[in-house]
Amino acid sequence: MNVAILGVGTVGSSVVKILKKNKELIKARSGVEINPVIGFVRDLSKKRDVDIELSDDINSILKRDDIDAYVELMGGVDRPYKIVSEILKQEKPVVTANKAMLAYHRYALQNLAKNTPFGFEASVAGGIPIIKALKEGLSANKIEKIVGILNGTSNYILTNMMQNGVNFDEALTKAQNLGYAESDPSFDVDGFDAAHKLLILSSIAYSVHGDPEDILVKGIRKISSEDIFFANEFEYVIKLLAISKIEDKKVELRVHPAFINKDNILAKVDGVMNAVSVYGDALKHSMYYGPGAGGDATASAVVADLIDIAKGNKSPMLGYNTTLQNVKLLSQNDIKTKYYLRVRVEDKKGVLATIANVMSENRISIDSFLQKPRLKDEKYTTLFFTTHTSLEADIKKVIEILENMKFVLNRPFMIRIES
Ligand code: NAP
Ligand code: HSE
Repeated sequence: MNVAILGVGTVGSSVVKILKKNKELIKARSGVEINPVIGFVRDLSKKRDVDIELSDDINSILKRDDIDAYVELMGGVDRPYKIVSEILKQEKPVVTANKAMLAYHRYALQNLAKNTPFGFEASVAGGIPIIKALKEGLSANKIEKIVGILNGTSNYILTNMMQNGVNFDEALTKAQNLGYAESDPSFDVDGFDAAHKLLILSSIAYSVHGDPEDILVKGIRKISSEDIFFANEFEYVIKLLAISKIEDKKVELRVHPAFINKDNILAKVDGVMNAVSVYGDALKHSMYYGPGAGGDATASAVVADLIDIAKGNKSPMLGYNTTLQNVKLLSQNDIKTKYYLRVRVEDKKGVLATIANVMSENRISIDSFLQKPRLKDEKYTTLFFTTHTSLEADIKKVIEILENMKFVLNRPFMIRIES
């Protein structure tokens, strides 16, 4: 089986290397030799330590009769979508790791693919075979909930900030050097990469429609040393969580930093590792763990898809099509969870009472409160609150009111608490 590799960067190079290094084993498992015959790149003059013929002419690659399958590893949304659509029109198999493209075009691609094999295992949680688990291993279950750490870069940054006191910028640079981050790392740290992955998993689980902009997405940029102090004091760990739940045909989708208890199994998922907890009606809880980013880990999933194609495995792209479920997205204002609020205020009489009053008037019940003694000559102090389960709309209203109070220095910062 001759394969064209469209994009020979971090992941594409690893795919070529694994196909060559494990050639005999892959042939024994798939029944055929899988040969990477041509790579598509932008810059032919770039130095690369990978042995494959390269071209910067996509049209000539797409016209070749000797290519049996294409692997898209370029990144981006519209350009790869156009290229992949052309390949599917030729009824040639496609494998991709491109979650951004799938987040926007997954149903259009499914409609185009019909019976043409389309592998996207590498698009979610790097090397973890979570797509196969959801489409096949868990296919007897009605999926009720998925909770995951789905972005390796932000988990690597948060782990380094919490455990080693490394600052945000330094940790991000390290993650970039290790090949974990997207070409635009704001996708990682602002939560959108995890949102792309959450939409893909939720489409397999409950045929949910919607774009990343339709769901609640918050990133990790504003996590401060004070939040880390509070987390340590109260036995929490901060993780960027991706959460998807279905109840009464309403799907709740959200990505945001969250406090989770130190004894929560997800709290132990550190560095570039990802984990996905899946709750189904028959199996109840199962969990999948492994490297969520990096060239070789991701290429492991890409090559597994190629082996599946070589073996002739065909299943609809997103698995069983449950569009008849007709599920809708839950409005962001209707989300219910617990909250942590950090409020920087003037340290003077009546401030605490006023804030407590605003919370009470907006149906927010305080669970705990902490105030660090004010430093000498400092006018301001920081108040930390946690709440009982509350409505997102109510906590947003409280933040809006507090932000406009004279004694509040900055917009209060909120982190959701998940148990
Ligand atoms: P990368 O290192 O930036 O590599 C991208 C490759 O695509 C490069 O070879 C680049 O060519 C080529 N390319 C990009 N735009 C092009 C264009 N317009 N025309 C021709 N060639 C173009 O990216 P990567 O980290 O390997 O990621 C590839 C895909 O895998 C992305 O969709 C990413 O989201 C996904 N992914 C990455 C990881 C990871 O850990 N890195 C994990 C899971 C999924 P040049 O080399 O000439 O610049
Ligand atoms: N940039 C992504 C991450 C790559 O850090 O998780 C894996 O999808």
